[in-house]
Amino acid sequence: MSEQARARAAALRAEIARHDYRYYVLDDPQIPDAEYDRLMAELKAIEQAHPDLITPDSPTQRVGGAASAAFGEVVHAVPMLSLENGFSDDDVAAFDRRVRERLGLAEPLWYWAEPKLDGLAVTAIFRNGTLAQAATRGDGVRGEDVTANLRAVRAFPLTLRGRAPPLLEVRGEVFMPIAGFERSNREALARGERPFVNPRNAAAGSLRQLDPAVTAARPLRVYCYGLGQFEGWTPPPLQSEVLQALKEWGLPVCPQAERVQGVPGCIAYYRAMAERRARLPYQIDGVVYKVERLEEQARLGFVARAPRWALARKFPAEEALTRVEAIEWQVGRTGALTPVARLAPKFVGGVTVSSVTLHNFDEVRRKDVRVGDTVVIRRAGDVIPELVRVLPERRPPGAAPVLLPERCPVCGSAVLKPDGEAVARCTGGFSCAAQRQEAIRHFASRLAMDIEGLGDKRVEQLVDSGLVRSPADLYTLSCEQLQGLERMGARSAAKLLRAIERSKHTTLPRLLYALGIREVGETTALALARHFGDLAPLIEAARSQPQRIEQVADVGPVVAAHLHAFFSAAAHRELIEKLRACGVTWEPVAAIRAHLPLQGQTFVLTGTLPGMSRQQAEAALSALGAKVVGSVSRKTHYVVAGTEPGAKLARARALGIPVLEPAELQRLLDAHRR
Ligand code: IVH
Repeated sequence: MSEQARARAAALRAEIARHDYRYYVLDDPQIPDAEYDRLMAELKAIEQAHPDLITPDSPTQRVGGAASAAFGEVVHAVPMLSLENGFSDDDVAAFDRRVRERLGLAEPLWYWAEPKLDGLAVTAIFRNGTLAQAATRGDGVRGEDVTANLRAVRAFPLTLRGRAPPLLEVRGEVFMPIAGFERSNREALARGERPFVNPRNAAAGSLRQLDPAVTAARPLRVYCYGLGQFEGWTPPPLQSEVLQALKEWGLPVCPQAERVQGVPGCIAYYRAMAERRARLPYQIDGVVYKVERLEEQARLGFVARAPRWALARKFPAEEALTRVEAIEWQVGRTGALTPVARLAPKFVGGVTVSSVTLHNFDEVRRKDVRVGDTVVIRRAGDVIPELVRVLPERRPPGAAPVLLPERCPVCGSAVLKPDGEAVARCTGGFSCAAQRQEAIRHFASRLAMDIEGLGDKRVEQLVDSGLVRSPADLYTLSCEQLQGLERMGARSAAKLLRAIERSKHTTLPRLLYALGIREVGETTALALARHFGDLAPLIEAARSQPQRIEQVADVGPVVAAHLHAFFSAAAHRELIEKLRACGVTWEPVAAIRAHLPLQGQTFVLTGTLPGMSRQQAEAALSALGAKVVGSVSRKTHYVVAGTEPGAKLARARALGIPVLEPAELQRLLDAHRR
């Protein structure tokens, strides 16, 4: 019986793999889904009855093991490069010219042209035909180990067909087809969850799941487009032949790729794909041209982080027409009134756009946007959608020009728009709920008073319940009051009170920044503190001689005017007195200056730092006395490399300068937090 079961299980596995291949690679399914499900159910039943028959590459074992806490790191044996971008026919012609010059060829070259898929890059290593490891691109040198997740993607094989090389690393794009994306979003909405912004985020979010079972449930696909390392195999001479070989080994490749000749061939392919784009089952953001001959690719080599033998020709930003349904005014932390156009929802550039910011009143006037107007909106890749222009010929009769509200839509205070300024503001300050909540959130934030546990939600609760109307109220909260709030037990109330108590001992720059004075960020706050030494002389100067403030390095008349306005308001001076009365104290600045921990150290930042803007990182470092400069030299002490670091990282490595990861920078900053 067991032998019979073993043979049947093996036959079922082979049959399922064959159907996966027909479905995902050949795009030519042979059996209906129900029949496929039946084969799977039969295999599962056999394996349940005979657990010793389960093999790691059984299709029932795609999701194995429990969710992990984090992804391991994988160092890519062959770096994962990015692509140079082109935006016009001229860019393509220039690329072709460069390539032929380097190769010393006069005749037209053959290129392999394929869609530029909008997903995320992965690399997968097959050892002896079995999927052994998969990783994301990461920074190109190190990625995250997503083996368990890629195994869970049914569209990707666990084993290769035929006689595959003993070591084969393939590279490709994981993406979510548009139909699957829309279905996932409908299901997410039905469950009350947040939908994905676009198919690319959906693919990235689905693959980078700590629980592979979640990945398994997402309709992901993979198209392979290249090679990493390999052994025991001599690749054929052409890129197209390599892909053909991958396909024969059962790896999915994009069916819309083509061999094209010379610049005319490249351009014709681009035009054809642009025309087909809206009908393709997946999202693309351009096309990629690759020199066909591998030997020529090898001769061309790389520059910086991109191969000289490939070019991504990107599509221009997508535009669409929609209608303005309303124009609303949002009030920000500093009281700025921002007009926002609410639109009839429109899918453009990969997301559904239902509102766009109009930035300020001058912009509304310049574009002459009115409710009821038909407008052109545009969105490219990750870029924020924008309203390009109005179609006046489609304006409904009676559409009136937009007026600046005289009163704040939140608190009813007067709205002021100083001459020469584009931005109109509510004058309500802490008495405006919109500003109050933001002002208090800002006051408590990490780089300001640093009150741990006082996040957006808590602030909202405190403001909505009426317990906190100004920052000073934070310092009079009692345990009983806090416990009256939802989701606040005795322990968390006590914890929050301790954090508030701790924040009382602060520094002058932090306090100044915390006040939320317009244009006074961390750097300016630090410069002001260093210059004036204490709050009293600063207030004195701001009120009576604002021009004295302009003597501070990097402070101009605008900042001086804001400081003047802020400290001229009695309510703000009262706030400071109240804070003082509640026990808020700050160290004299001279003392800070004496022991700045990073004094004399030079830092260079490159790449994106997760959870921190570049300005924040610069301000935090300079607050500790460090100097942040733009380029790496022998004098640089540290280079901080975020994601997608630039050439600065390579230079730092070449010069042997220590490179900090974002987490290390965070630890450094935390260690010196005051
Ligand atoms: S080739 C050495 N081909 O684009 C060449 N990349 O901008 C490296 N991408 O990280 C990539 N479709 O995620 C290649 N047909 C395609 C692609 C493609 C999408 C992505 C890939 C890569 C990024 C580079």
